[in-house]
Amino acid sequence: MKLLLRHPRRGGLHLAAILVLGLAMLAGAALSPETALAQATRGDVAQETPTGGSIPGNSLGSASDTEIWRQVRQGVQGTVSIPDAKAGQLIQSQGESWRAWRNGPLSTVGGWAMLGTIILLALFFALRGRIKIDAGASGRTVERFNGIERFAHWLTAVSFIVLAVTGLNLLYGRYVLLPILGPEVFSALTTAGKYAHNFISFAFMLGVVMMVVLWVRHNIPNRYDLIWLSKAGGLFTKGVHPPSKKFNAGQKIIFWAVVLGGISISLSGISLLFPFEFGFFEATYRFLNVFGAGLPETLTPMQEMQLSQLWHTVVGLFLTAVILAHIYIGSVGMEGAFAAMGSGMVDENWAREHHNLWMAELKGEPMPKLDDHGDGKPQPAE
Ligand code: HEM
Repeated sequence: MKLLLRHPRRGGLHLAAILVLGLAMLAGAALSPETALAQATRGDVAQETPTGGSIPGNSLGSASDTEIWRQVRQGVQGTVSIPDAKAGQLIQSQGESWRAWRNGPLSTVGGWAMLGTIILLALFFALRGRIKIDAGASGRTVERFNGIERFAHWLTAVSFIVLAVTGLNLLYGRYVLLPILGPEVFSALTTAGKYAHNFISFAFMLGVVMMVVLWVRHNIPNRYDLIWLSKAGGLFTKGVHPPSKKFNAGQKIIFWAVVLGGISISLSGISLLFPFEFGFFEATYRFLNVFGAGLPETLTPMQEMQLSQLWHTVVGLFLTAVILAHIYIGSVGMEGAFAAMGSGMVDENWAREHHNLWMAELKGEPMPKLDDHGDGKPQPAE
């Protein structure tokens, strides 16, 4: 007041400014969306706004369209003008199912499968002990695997073990190693492991191809396999040795698991290594539908990636469990077995007990006749 009295003209200006500001605020409030909405809700002023509360030129308007958003949530696919077609899908709901499967049942069942295998092997070892050469070592040896065969085996074996360890770290590392190592060390280790996994996969693929070339002819099923299987390979009974050529039925199962599992894990791995470049699942589903599987025949690129990841993990865990059993029987589980892949030479008595038909072939001896029990023991000469 004092100020106004002392400067009457400036006081009048102040008053005018306050009035203009007040009017501007009122106008602004009238134009704000909240007010517009409130007015529209009241239903009295809405008609007076030029667009009736909608965004001009927008077909959807500012009204909430639940059906549209429901479709977006359920993964409706639109089109975009950029080359990346998958950007036309705002929400890919299957991502949630993929994550739930990966971190839930897949991790749990896989963990139990591997742990279960180790428990069973320990139990088997406790009950049966090391499978011995019944006749004792003869001291004479024969060549079982040459240098190329052993190279193919160890190339596959070493690369598989690296892939298994680094792969398992991707699935379980954050629960098992992260709390022990801390984030810095765990991160460095996992990054190195990821590169090892990506590059060493090619050595594994080469190893599998070599194994197929070298051994496929020895792994065609034959009638002796049925006898071998019916006697569970004599694994549970001391002194029983069912007949076998170069590979017995159990080894053939391992071979085909490694070859078919190896091809399958390689294809899914390649599609993970080169994201969105391959779509193996659509083709697989189409093929399975020929047999009435009733699977979806169109998959989005994102679904292809998710299915590749799940399948890669399923096969990886399965193969790891199978290979644990293989490593056991090829090392501590059976006397004389490791030498076959170590030096390549095996004891003749070992060869006669576990691969009698192969041994006879090798020595140019007449094929041993099988007695009625099919235990592979040569019948006494007449
Ligand atoms: C430390 C690990 C391993 C050991 C000690 C081992 C040992 C052996 C031995 C001793 C044989 C020859 C058996 C015979 O003379 O009849 C063999 C064969 C074979 N190994 Fe391995 N192996 C190992 C890892 C692997 C891995 C990781 C794979 C594949 C991913 C593999 C695949 C095969 C295949 C397909 C055969 C031929 C079929 C068979 O004998 O079962 N091995 N291994």
